[in-house]
Amino acid sequence: MARVGLSEQELLRIAVPIAAEAAAMAQRMRAEAITDFGTKSTITDVVTAADTAVERLISDALRAVRPGDAMLGEELGTDLGTASSDSQVRWIVDPIDGTVNYLYGIEQYAISIAAELDGEVVAGVVHNAATGRVWTAARGHGAWRDGRRLTGSTQTDLAQTLVATGFAYIAARRAHQGRVVAGLLPRVRDIRRMGSAALDLCAAAEGQVDAFYEKGLNAWDMAAGGLIAREAGLLMTGLHGRPPGHDLVLVAPPALHPQLHDVLSELDAAGGP
Ligand code: IPD
Ligand code: CA
Ligand code: CA
Repeated sequence: MARVGLSEQELLRIAVPIAAEAAAMAQRMRAEAITDFGTKSTITDVVTAADTAVERLISDALRAVRPGDAMLGEELGTDLGTASSDSQVRWIVDPIDGTVNYLYGIEQYAISIAAELDGEVVAGVVHNAATGRVWTAARGHGAWRDGRRLTGSTQTDLAQTLVATGFAYIAARRAHQGRVVAGLLPRVRDIRRMGSAALDLCAAAEGQVDAFYEKGLNAWDMAAGGLIAREAGLLMTGLHGRPPGHDLVLVAPPALHPQLHDVLSELDAAGGP
């Protein structure tokens, strides 16, 4: 039986140290792979091994404190061992978001853990495993990074907007995304493709970019980062009144949102394969 009744902040307090432990494991596995490189392991194998091992660590740690909760994880599916059907809490986990950066040693990869209560994300932590930076949010309690409250960008002019985005792994979807970004690029300050949707959302929350959009994201890519962005005061939607989802996630400060929405709509950013 799920022990429901924890507040958003209590759920967050469960997730934060687990994300830290997971980040330490990801870093350890990467360091060991580099040491072993050419003898027994390869860095490519280690990416897959680390994704699974880190998610296993998170799921074991969550099960130890919240045995009745459900979990949706990228690598292990929905299994949290004894998840009960009446559980109202579901953890949404991306063990390493930014896997390609992890592979190359670019310091933009993160552990993302969110808690959903009755279908709504209410707590989230994104922990950059390479830099140790941590972003958190609990519903109604703001978004934070290392003790500083986040309020997003104050930019109001689309032409001066720095937009983060990302591309899917599917070639046909990428081709469409390439056409969209080609149409957007002349109308904004610039584009950033940093390689971790979770960290992109945190960057938007922090105002390090003004806005973010991406097509094809899964729940684990955006659950924690999305709450962090919303709690920083940003709007997070799909196109044409639809909720954010696999078709499109658009995150922007209220003054920018309609402008970016209309351009993305004109470019059919939610369309294609
Ligand atoms: C990916 C990253 C990337 C985004 C992709 C995601 P992964 O997640 O978030 O920035 O563009 O859509 O799939 O594979 O590194 O966990
Ligand atoms: Ca991901
Ligand atoms: Ca991942």
